[in-house]
Amino acid sequence: MIESHIIDIKWMKRAIYLASLGKGRTSPNPMVGAVILDKNGNLISEGFHSKSGMPHAEAMAFNNLKKDARDGTIYVNLEPCCHQGKTPPCVDKIISFGIKRVFVSIEDPDKRMSGKGIKLLKDAGIKVHLGLCKKESKELNKSFIHKNITDNAYGVMKWAMSMDGRVGLKNGKSKWITNKDSRSLVHSLRASFDAIVIGGNTLRKDDPFLTSRGIRNPEPLRVVFTKTLNLPVKSNLWDCKLARTLVVYDASTADEKFLKRIPEGVEIEKLSSDNPILLSNLLAKKGCNNVFWECGPKLATSAMKAGCIQELMTFIAPKILGGVSSMNPFSDFEFTDMDEVFNLNEPETSFIGNDIYVKSIT
Ligand SMILES: NC(=O)c1ccc[n+]([C@@H]2O[C@H](COP(=O)([O-])OP(=O)(O)OC[C@H]3O[C@@H](n4cnc5c(N)ncnc54)[C@H](OP(=O)(O)O)[C@@H]3O)[C@@H](O)[C@H]2O)c1
Repeated sequence: MIESHIIDIKWMKRAIYLASLGKGRTSPNPMVGAVILDKNGNLISEGFHSKSGMPHAEAMAFNNLKKDARDGTIYVNLEPCCHQGKTPPCVDKIISFGIKRVFVSIEDPDKRMSGKGIKLLKDAGIKVHLGLCKKESKELNKSFIHKNITDNAYGVMKWAMSMDGRVGLKNGKSKWITNKDSRSLVHSLRASFDAIVIGGNTLRKDDPFLTSRGIRNPEPLRVVFTKTLNLPVKSNLWDCKLARTLVVYDASTADEKFLKRIPEGVEIEKLSSDNPILLSNLLAKKGCNNVFWECGPKLATSAMKAGCIQELMTFIAPKILGGVSSMNPFSDFEFTDMDEVFNLNEPETSFIGNDIYVKSIT
């Protein structure tokens, strides 16, 4: 019994690993992997969801079958779908191939679907085991789960600061606070996000590229959030051959005469206010499961207040910038009591050369 449980864990972990191969390419869908064993417990096929619009993991695994799957077992990290989307329902495939046991790590977080796939499998006489390796599966698809529960994209905020907590000099200069390896890590981190957000002022001051430097193809969507629309005529973000760019503005405050500065090819959307949660919601509707917020202190503060940020990534360089009016990562939250401050959870720390990297959950 214990031995068979260990074997089941091994195959579910393999399904989770296969799922992770789709990282950065499956949105708005989840990352899913599937492993099929024959009736004697031998591996006969596997698959994963490689990209939205491509076959689901289960379908790919059935397409790759080397032997008869009748009376076999399938391991999937997410409940198989039971609806006709861009691809046919996976539940039908599992039933029609005569699978006897299905291991599902977690239910589909979409409340309209949740549990329905499992019920259909059970109704067809298939033994369904739910919950194996659920911690790992939830971690892998945390963005997809968050988006389904809240209708907003999962937000990760990143900033680079000096040992004295400064993100730039008082004249706005911030290139470069951290070392080359930290900056390369940021490029590769960008590859696992669907969109990267900055505010208009960071665009004006830093004129960044915001790409993964080719690690992800296509590159993540680059997003500028502006209240004024007072954006420069020339900008690295206007080169849409490199990556898509989206300008989102607050229609209640922006001066729309500035729209003519934005070149053709750049996408434009307006919102009814400057509340960053509206931006998070808009990006989720556009198919982004997760968003990397690389903004300066003003937008960072608004985004934190609005609940757009679920994780923080902080790079700390062994430098002192000093200055009473140098920039902090956040402006004033106007807390008046220590009970009101953000308490961060599960901090993880590592070194990147001489820089310190801290990851935490809000
Ligand atoms: N060290 C780091 O990690 C790091 C990272 C990013 C930026 N920076 C530095 O930060 C500085 C810019 O700081 P910043 O705070 O002005 O950053 P920002 O990222 O430009 O955010 C502020 C801008 O966002 C727009 N915005 C839209 N909705 C907003 C809202 N609800 N609340 C606040 N802003 C909103 C406004 O653009 P409009 O003015 O166009 O209306 C506003 O000026 C630059 O000097 C840059 O070098 C440092």
